[in-house]
Amino acid sequence: MNIERFTGQVCIVTGAAQGIGLATARRLASEGAQVFALDISEPTEIVEGVRWIRCDVTSQQQWQASVAGVVAEAGPVDVLVNNAGGVGSYDELADISTADWDRVIMLNQSSVFYGMQAVLPSMIARSTGSIVNVSSMWGIIGTAGVAAYQASKGAVTMMTKNAAATYASRGVRVNSVHPGFIWTPMTVAQDADISQGLVEKTPMARAGLTSEVAASIAFLASQDASFVTGVQLLVDGGFTTV
Ligand code: NAI
Repeated sequence: MNIERFTGQVCIVTGAAQGIGLATARRLASEGAQVFALDISEPTEIVEGVRWIRCDVTSQQQWQASVAGVVAEAGPVDVLVNNAGGVGSYDELADISTADWDRVIMLNQSSVFYGMQAVLPSMIARSTGSIVNVSSMWGIIGTAGVAAYQASKGAVTMMTKNAAATYASRGVRVNSVHPGFIWTPMTVAQDADISQGLVEKTPMARAGLTSEVAASIAFLASQDASFVTGVQLLVDGGFTTV
């Protein structure tokens, strides 16, 4: 089946140099989108239809400049996927340093605020637009340790619901995707015991693929989800069902 849900659309995907972001950029481009990959790192793969822009998403000034560049080159932004993020620190609340806390909150939470604020005015003005924020299953259920990551991903869940409620009547949809354990460079880099433990606790008894998360992001970003806003779509192989 050849689906072309994003023909003529301008899409921004952050953290698209690798992992879930790269798979999402590839999926949107394969469906006709003109995709701009905003990342602090160079892309690990060249994908047709995807243009890379160096942007540190923790900088509001770089966000504004990047979005202005996209608009000047391709026109107003139809879809924003706030995907860039990372665990940053495995420390628990009693131990985490203020510097680590601030760094993780900036990367996972403030970046989502900057991104939404950069695109919302033109989406509201055009009464159209779709934003997908990548949170985590740890943005919905509790776990031990990773205090700043959990706090930031929980915040993304509620920032998404807040924006959905605020802008629903103005034509902008805002949803979040919550991956379970997915094999990406981020999880390859972490302690193998943590990864193995997560796979063992996943009812489907395997890790998810980046393409499986990308498919869910593409659904929410597309007109197939035209009556869907403010949802938390778990892509976790059933992890949170038990
Ligand atoms: P990854 O580490 O493989 O890729 C993250 C990308 O973000 C990289 O390309 C990196 O260069 C970019 N990035 C990092 N800091 C940046 C900055 N300041 N500005 C711009 N770009 C920056 O990560 P992965 O696994 O693909 O994760 C993507 C998202 O999915 C993250 O928000 C992560 O928290 C979330 N997630 C991932 C899960 C997993 O199991 N892989 C599970 C749940 C959520």
